Amino acid sequence: MRKIGIIFGGSSTEHEISLMSAKSVIENLNKEKYDIYPIYIDKEGKWYKAYIQKETSEKNIEIENVVKYLKSLDVVFPVLHGKNGEDGTIQGMLEMLKIPYVGCKVLASSIGMDKVYTKIIFERAKISQTPYIHIQKKNNTYKIVKDNFEDENLELEKIIAKLKFPMFIKPSNSGSSVGVKKANNIEELERAIENASKYDTKILVEQGVNGKEVECAILDDGNKNNIVVSTVGEVLPAEEFYSFDAKYNIPESKTIIPAKLDDSQIEEVRKLAIRAFKAIDGSGLSRVDFFIENETNNIYINEINTMPGFTQISMYPKLFEAVGINYPELLDRLIESAII
Ligand SMILES: Nc1ncnc2c1ncn2[C@@H]1O[C@H](COP(=O)(O)OP(=O)(O)O)[C@@H](O)[C@H]1O
Ligand SMILES: [Mg+2]
Repeated sequence: MRKIGIIFGGSSTEHEISLMSAKSVIENLNKEKYDIYPIYIDKEGKWYKAYIQKETSEKNIEIENVVKYLKSLDVVFPVLHGKNGEDGTIQGMLEMLKIPYVGCKVLASSIGMDKVYTKIIFERAKISQTPYIHIQKKNNTYKIVKDNFEDENLELEKIIAKLKFPMFIKPSNSGSSVGVKKANNIEELERAIENASKYDTKILVEQGVNGKEVECAILDDGNKNNIVVSTVGEVLPAEEFYSFDAKYNIPESKTIIPAKLDDSQIEEVRKLAIRAFKAIDGSGLSRVDFFIENETNNIYINEINTMPGFTQISMYPKLFEAVGINYPELLDRLIESAII
């Protein structure tokens, strides 16, 4: 039996999503193979031995010596989304402690978490993306950061001269659509930038793509020449875009697997997903998200998620289910590749 620590919660805006993901992971782990140690991190960053797998009145017990506790395990699966979990921080800690863990390493995790840096890497990898502007908030003033990293004062007219409405405004470090807004005019743009600045000082303004939203899953067993890529799935958000509510609170949001695309488009998306994964130096797993523009059929990459949602209804496990890798097997392969 392998002792596996499943870490969840965390001080991130995606704390609750992590609880749902971890619950599914624990339910789907092969109990004959793994001894499961659920570990809960609360929003303040305290660590607890948790009781997620059974209905119980037992209280979580705070772990006094986190290092010692982690070192007693064979492998760790940080099922954490967002800051302090998906961004390289916990990965760095596990590296230092020499504890095997599932998923991307420090560099890939931190690039994947930061939307501005992801864009810079994808540009270099020649993966098409929608035009964007990088804004930085410094000492309460907003600056546009140019390609050469010199900055200039933000004037909304400069954005309008470069990008067409609708635009999407996002905190650079965020996930689950927290802080993401769509703007159809200059007033909404201004408000959305201010709103995004509550979450991060680095802000991204993107030109909107009118099209399908599709996702592709990657499983990397450790052999870089043999990355497993799923088919492509489409998300149909129940709201105007795939907002936090459309993702988690509105049951009418749907996923279609495989997406209704030509075979050649599916192949192109799969190829680009691998390229994106390699570009950030990924390992273990990722879900890569794209838009396919209605008018042109152009494929634009949106983002890469190094710790995608893992709930029963999440796209990542469903995409592999569709190609014959069921959830417990998927977990097995991820964990075994972490231990090698
Ligand atoms: N450029 C864009 N064009 C059209 N829709 C977008 C664009 N950027 C984001 N969206 C919508 O907003 C959602 C959340 O944005 P995303 O960049 O994926 O952030 P998160 O990391 O929070 O998932 C997307 O799933 C999509 O529905
Ligand atoms: Mg997204």
